[in-house]
Amino acid sequence: MNDLIISDVRVVTPLGSMARKGAEMSELFILDHASVFVSDGIIAYVGKERIPDKPDCVQIDGRGCCLLPGFIDSHSHLVFGGLRAEEFSWRLQGDSYMSIMKRGGGIVNTVKSTRVSDFDSLLAKSMELVHRMSEMGVTTVEGKSGYGLDRETEIKQLEVMQEMNKTEDCPVEIVPTFLGAHAVPEEYKGRSEEYIDFLIREMLPEIRKKNLAECCDIFCEEGVFSIEQSRRLLMEAKDLGYRLKIHADEIVSLGGAELAAELHALSADHLLHASDTGIRRLADSGVIATLLPLTAFALKEPYARGREMIDAGCAVALATDLNPGSCFSGSIPLTIDLACIYMGLSIEETITALTLNGAAAVGRAEKLGSIEVGKQADLILLDYPDYHVLPYYIGMNCVNTTIKAGKIVKCKNNK
Ligand code: NIG
Ligand code: FE
Repeated sequence: MNDLIISDVRVVTPLGSMARKGAEMSELFILDHASVFVSDGIIAYVGKERIPDKPDCVQIDGRGCCLLPGFIDSHSHLVFGGLRAEEFSWRLQGDSYMSIMKRGGGIVNTVKSTRVSDFDSLLAKSMELVHRMSEMGVTTVEGKSGYGLDRETEIKQLEVMQEMNKTEDCPVEIVPTFLGAHAVPEEYKGRSEEYIDFLIREMLPEIRKKNLAECCDIFCEEGVFSIEQSRRLLMEAKDLGYRLKIHADEIVSLGGAELAAELHALSADHLLHASDTGIRRLADSGVIATLLPLTAFALKEPYARGREMIDAGCAVALATDLNPGSCFSGSIPLTIDLACIYMGLSIEETITALTLNGAAAVGRAEKLGSIEVGKQADLILLDYPDYHVLPYYIGMNCVNTTIKAGKIVKCKNNK
């Protein structure tokens, strides 16, 4: 039944069922010596009353702990074959991400390994990754295809995510995104328009019909897919009922943020080189700016202008971008540090960005992302009573217990 009582805990949460924008991002609701009652996986009570003991109900003594909503990693590429450690070494010697991609490495390198990986090995590898993420307090993960770039492998990746959601042992919910437009595959070299035609004609309708993806994404970047190609694909996707995401302005300032606003996308992601106009349009349109500081760190690129975006009134979410190329990391602790230290976010804004705004970036703000009656009980207990420890304990995991839909899925010690 997933009934649970957490007593004498400090509740720390944003409030609401939509993304928090601008100054709202720093408003957290804090309640000391609180009790939380979870019935059938849903939060049924949050307040000061002591909940009477109930038989068959799991009890957690929250003394000395903070209770936060589970973290939502709203941008990841977690299903892939192989690794690309050699590319990381080349980058250490001065190579750039795009030059490696241009000479046939990068994404298409992982495409080769993913095409030859069987379903079960992809599943096992992805499960291992989400178990690690769950230890760091992640309860929901957005996962993208994009390492197949052909019908069979794109569907295989999405089916792996579907299978994960059906697996009892999976500690997170996966929100699947179709990223067939991640790169131009070798078979279509020099024919990117034809590849977009193929995606529109064959892939978008089939994946929608099979209900394998909720969102559609594209790598809109100089030398990959242009603004015009992105607009063409995403408008078709929108007509079919996909929610839209864009890898926008990651390497150069191409106008991806502006396009996301024009198309009312759910989110524009990366934004390292978003223009002033792009930032203003994101703020005006309410499109979520999903920032991925681990990628900037790993590529030694300048960080996205998170502080300026929030000051301009944007709703900012934070995510890991876990992938085998630009950022082989699912580290929430390091994401928090980089957001606070290098992007100028406050701790409160960082918490909102990883919870309620992350939920909004996967279209689930009504159900997830805050500790309120009626929301699903995706919760984390920190080892400390003070949430300020999150960035302070540099790169270290402060999460003691992770609860998914009222069920304890990870616990470091007996709480
Ligand atoms: O978000 N930039 C495009 N996609 C990923 C990297 C994928 C890869 O290198 O395998 C990103 O950074
Ligand atoms: Fe990405």
